[in-house]
Amino acid sequence: MTAASAQRAQELRGLLNTAAHAYYVLDAPVMEDPVYDRLYRELLELESADPSLVTVDSPTQRVGGTPAEGFSSVRHRIGLLSLDNAFNAEELGAWYGRLLRVLDREPSEGQPRPALAMVGELKIDGNALALSYENGVLVRAATRGDGEQGEDITANVRTIGSVPLRLQLDQPPAWLEVRGEAFIPDGVFDGINADRQQRGEALFANPRNACAGTLRQLDPKVVAARRLDFFAYTLHLPDDWQGQRPTSQWDSLQWLRDAGFKVNPNAELLPDLDAVEAFFNSWDGGRRQLDYATDGVVVKLDNLRLQDAAGFTQKAPRWAIALKYPAEEAPSKLLRLTCQVGRTGVITPVAEFEAVPLAGTSVSRATLHNADRLDELDLHAGDTIVVRKAGEIIPEVVRVLKELRPTSAERLQLPHTCPECGSTLVREAGEAATRCINSSCPAILRGALRHWVSKGALDVDGLGSKLIEQLVDRGLVQSIADLYRLDAALLSSLERMGQKSAENLVSALAASRQQGWARQLYGLGIHHVGEVNAKALAATFPDADLLQTAACNAPESITAVFGIGDEIAQSLQQWFANPSNLQLLNGLREQGFSLALSADEQRRAEAASSERHLSGSTFVLTGTLPTLSRSQAKELIEAAGGKVSGSVSKKTSYVVAGDEAGSKLTKAESLGLTILDETGLQALLGSPQSA
Ligand code: IVH
Repeated sequence: MTAASAQRAQELRGLLNTAAHAYYVLDAPVMEDPVYDRLYRELLELESADPSLVTVDSPTQRVGGTPAEGFSSVRHRIGLLSLDNAFNAEELGAWYGRLLRVLDREPSEGQPRPALAMVGELKIDGNALALSYENGVLVRAATRGDGEQGEDITANVRTIGSVPLRLQLDQPPAWLEVRGEAFIPDGVFDGINADRQQRGEALFANPRNACAGTLRQLDPKVVAARRLDFFAYTLHLPDDWQGQRPTSQWDSLQWLRDAGFKVNPNAELLPDLDAVEAFFNSWDGGRRQLDYATDGVVVKLDNLRLQDAAGFTQKAPRWAIALKYPAEEAPSKLLRLTCQVGRTGVITPVAEFEAVPLAGTSVSRATLHNADRLDELDLHAGDTIVVRKAGEIIPEVVRVLKELRPTSAERLQLPHTCPECGSTLVREAGEAATRCINSSCPAILRGALRHWVSKGALDVDGLGSKLIEQLVDRGLVQSIADLYRLDAALLSSLERMGQKSAENLVSALAASRQQGWARQLYGLGIHHVGEVNAKALAATFPDADLLQTAACNAPESITAVFGIGDEIAQSLQQWFANPSNLQLLNGLREQGFSLALSADEQRRAEAASSERHLSGSTFVLTGTLPTLSRSQAKELIEAAGGKVSGSVSKKTSYVVAGDEAGSKLTKAESLGLTILDETGLQALLGSPQSA
């Protein structure tokens, strides 16, 4: 080891650890990523040239080497207790009463209760960790386990960026213990599950499970990729430590912050029980805006001397209580399995169960998504299920409590026939969805009608679901086109329809004929053709005939439309191949629909394209560009209004040439055309005024 490299290594550790703290804990980066990477690599090189330079607090030691065989068990220096729960103000008051009693501070008759200052903290719904530091360096991290013994997961916890490997203390105590909560931010969790879904792996039920599963991963590299985070909330110092020692929970939080930990910023010092209640209520709504799951608030007596005096019960401190928000998961009894038939014929199984209050509403139905999910849950008649509703999210069945299953209960499956029309359901290989493919199925027709009149489509006022149901049930409407045959006399004979509203509806329908081609196309409800795609398609294929010809004979002209891929091209092809859809188009034409761009749409399309700064310019691409693929370059040019052509002529505005450009470049040079490299193209794309 040379003195110079030892000194440089120390310098680098300091720089990198400070940068990591700024990034992970303070959320205020002080170093650009490439700079960090460069310094990190320099340290790595020094260390691999001379392994004696490696220290336990080196940032290179965050991502541990080899996967473990298993975890060894460790005894906690100080036991990890749990918390007692309170679910309402009454239970909170009762806890406070007990606390005053053990502290011998009960008021005398007729006197108000004395106020004790509390710290209110959010209760993070993650996994408790115990971190041990010796002389300021992280030496061990353990799970809670049974509270006395946990599992040694040090290598995994090292990968958590917000856990300091070395504390920012000048004179650290010989040992100290920090407790806190490891968690996976919601955004990261969604990404993990999306990834798993794509790979066909089982999904994590919630961020807490994902976090627990991750902490017990044998390969620290997998843990590092999952981007866990950590909030510290408890500090234990040796009794004989002579340094600056906090005397309250509030000061402990600041102490932890100063030592380099991430502490949840939403804690508050609360003077009395009213303030505690206000704190609890104030977070009931706001917590859903946070990027991590919380299931309540934790209320802690602020004064550490009083905490000591209050002591512990068998399992929990007397000086703290978890004040929980109403459960968002609850058990219920399954009543029946029903099926919904969507407008595209997709069958969605729905569990109906005894109503339970969840997240502020009463819930009695939850979607089961598809047959796979139904199989996975393994639902049986009469099962007791766990239902969840998270905030605004639609309710879902989390799992079945199999222990409570009635004996010889029948296993529930999707029916083989459509519950609406009785035709045989189909499920294509590789598809999650089971479908009814009878295009005159009343459920599909109702869905198609609802979609046709919806806001983004033909936007017809006064034709709600109930009315649509009547029209379909009575056989008055058998296709979208039939809507335009209805007259006020007939409509006013229906339930809850007066003469006036019948007349209004007839004129609203008549007026809807004037809606543009893009809305009509969207209104047809073709699979994958949403509002945006419909607009793009309508602009390129100005009427239904042109679209049909392209879909059936030249799918590549469909995928050439910006933003339109194979999936949509295929879906269009299938749609036009179905005779009943062609019949529908004819029916609409008979009812006065042109199924073509309106004059208004045409004008707007022209205006929009001339606004795009490269419209009127023709590009030829040749050779390999350093970063953009051919198709990426083409998409970018077209999005800016330009055209891409295959051959160079006098009319070519620009030739974009990359490596190994061939004869096109030579020709361009001989014609004296403007030749761009990728940087030039990017400049042109990026700045409208340069065109
Ligand atoms: S203090 C002895 N503070 O909730 C008291 N716990 O239900 C130890 N938790 O095991 C806990 N956020 O995993 C405390 N701000 C917070 C917390 C918190 C979440 C967890 C912790 C504990 C569980 C008890």
